Amino acid sequence: MTLVPPIENSPNASQGEAFKALLCKAIDKRRNFAIISHPDAGKTTLTEKLLLYGGAIQQAGAVKARGEQRKVTSDWMELEKQRGISITSTVLQFKYQGITINLLDTPGHQDFSEDTYRTLAAADNAVMLEDAAKGLEPQTRKLFEVCRMRNIPIFTFINKMDRPGQEPLALLDEIESELNLSTWAVNWPIGSGELFRGIIDRRTQEVVLFERGERGKQSSEIRKNINDPELKALVEEELLIKAIEEIELLEEAGSKMDLELVQAGELTPVFFGSAMTNFGVGPFLDTFLEMAQGPAARNSSEGPINPSRETFSGFVFKLQANMDPRHRDRVAFVRICSGRFEKDMTVKHARTGKQIRLSRPQKIFGQDRAVVEDAYPGDVIGLNNPGMFSIGDTLFQGKHIEYEGIPCFSPEIFSWLRNPNPSAFKNFRKGVNELREEGAVQILYDTDQSKRDPILAAVGQLQLEVVQHRLENEYGVKTRLEPIGFQVARWVSGGWPALEKIGRIFNCKTVQDCWLRPVLLFKNEWNLNQLKEDHPDLELKAVAPVVSGMNPVNL
Ligand code: G4P
Repeated sequence: MTLVPPIENSPNASQGEAFKALLCKAIDKRRNFAIISHPDAGKTTLTEKLLLYGGAIQQAGAVKARGEQRKVTSDWMELEKQRGISITSTVLQFKYQGITINLLDTPGHQDFSEDTYRTLAAADNAVMLEDAAKGLEPQTRKLFEVCRMRNIPIFTFINKMDRPGQEPLALLDEIESELNLSTWAVNWPIGSGELFRGIIDRRTQEVVLFERGERGKQSSEIRKNINDPELKALVEEELLIKAIEEIELLEEAGSKMDLELVQAGELTPVFFGSAMTNFGVGPFLDTFLEMAQGPAARNSSEGPINPSRETFSGFVFKLQANMDPRHRDRVAFVRICSGRFEKDMTVKHARTGKQIRLSRPQKIFGQDRAVVEDAYPGDVIGLNNPGMFSIGDTLFQGKHIEYEGIPCFSPEIFSWLRNPNPSAFKNFRKGVNELREEGAVQILYDTDQSKRDPILAAVGQLQLEVVQHRLENEYGVKTRLEPIGFQVARWVSGGWPALEKIGRIFNCKTVQDCWLRPVLLFKNEWNLNQLKEDHPDLELKAVAPVVSGMNPVNL
């Protein structure tokens, strides 16, 4: 690829214009998204099918049973092993119809952690995947809330239509009433389960027939106009009439399609299909590309930064240690927000003010690494991280900017971290502080100063295991976990004064986070709701912003 010099080095205006045109074209041709779903909804299967369309893998086939292995490895790593293909475990890039698509992995199953939430901070669009039989499930709801905070467009794919499921109208109603999100069905199913016959494309008024092919084989896409007399022989009349009547109901009482509302995250286009049989995936991808937003502007200390700002900027959204046991390395994943990234470029690290030369940027494909020559807004690159980067750090060229930090998400698992060996305290402290800084886990402190041990607070159990493992392997400290039976945490908006005002609270433990803000821990949602009822004026938050202009308190 011919590299056009960045604007700052441009010897003349026309080269500057050429660069601007190149940048705008690259932005225009990029889309990124993350899939939000509950385990088993079919994320791995859908990912595999999307890769097929992008030509990233050649062979179709259902994802094999993963049994016990699923418990210890990430979905994508697993997929990679099963299929013998090379895909990254953080971001998957593929091209489809001239568009570069970045699919960001949201770790699920045992890998569910704060990283899952943080990944959504780097995504411009989300695909909400539901199992037609189960509807909305807990993990999907939590991830949806994180998307809602940034109002990113949400595209809903209702999967497993080849199996008996809930009534489609009930599924839409659940999304509307429980998520407060309007829906617009792009297609509508004809029958379900054994009687699933296909979908009606509402925009073209065509019936796309479902063929129950061999398991995992791509089904052919036969389209017929809804008035085609041949349909009678292919689809039971009562099923077709029911689908048409339901669509009429939607036309009368449902929301209208409005792209502006889609892009504002207020209206979700809904698709019915079956990832396993590859039914509806291609049309979904086509419509997604038509409606999804491109790399979006991001809030910073200098206001929103447009991707077409000519100088490079980006932020770290994920740090991963020991991705490959052979390398024992740490990688910082950077979402590019503006300008063009080039290999060997020197950037400024906003938090420390240091200049850094990014000499070994990588795209990480499972076990293999490819050096990135250049990358654009919406892309993700991996940087070797010798302890320099923290979650939320901004890298930039040109005028100083700092992107809004990635907030702290409500932890659900809490445990005292004990250090049985007092002579190892120095290393214990160093390890705990560094791992917190890295974002491996949140650290809470007891309000009683005499209880010096930190409380580890995590979103997923694996986070605690990783912290213990790394403390032992990287800092030489063997630790003991002592679980505390709380499951819900809330920050108090009004801080300590608000808490003092209401006095003693029962069935709740008050601790403080690393910015010394009060955090309330509850055994269950019921206790939380009790407090809300007793003190309706007390404002509690499940997500807390990072505190700028103040250093967090270390152990
Ligand atoms: P996840 O990553 O969201 O956890 O889900 P995954 O893709 O692993 O799919 C979970 C299960 O659902 C798998 O079955 C998969 O084959 C099945 N599945 C996915 N999409 C569809 C679909 O459209 N229709 C039907 N009927 N099933 C679907 P499994 O029994 O766990 O594994 P396997 O034995 O099928 O490999």
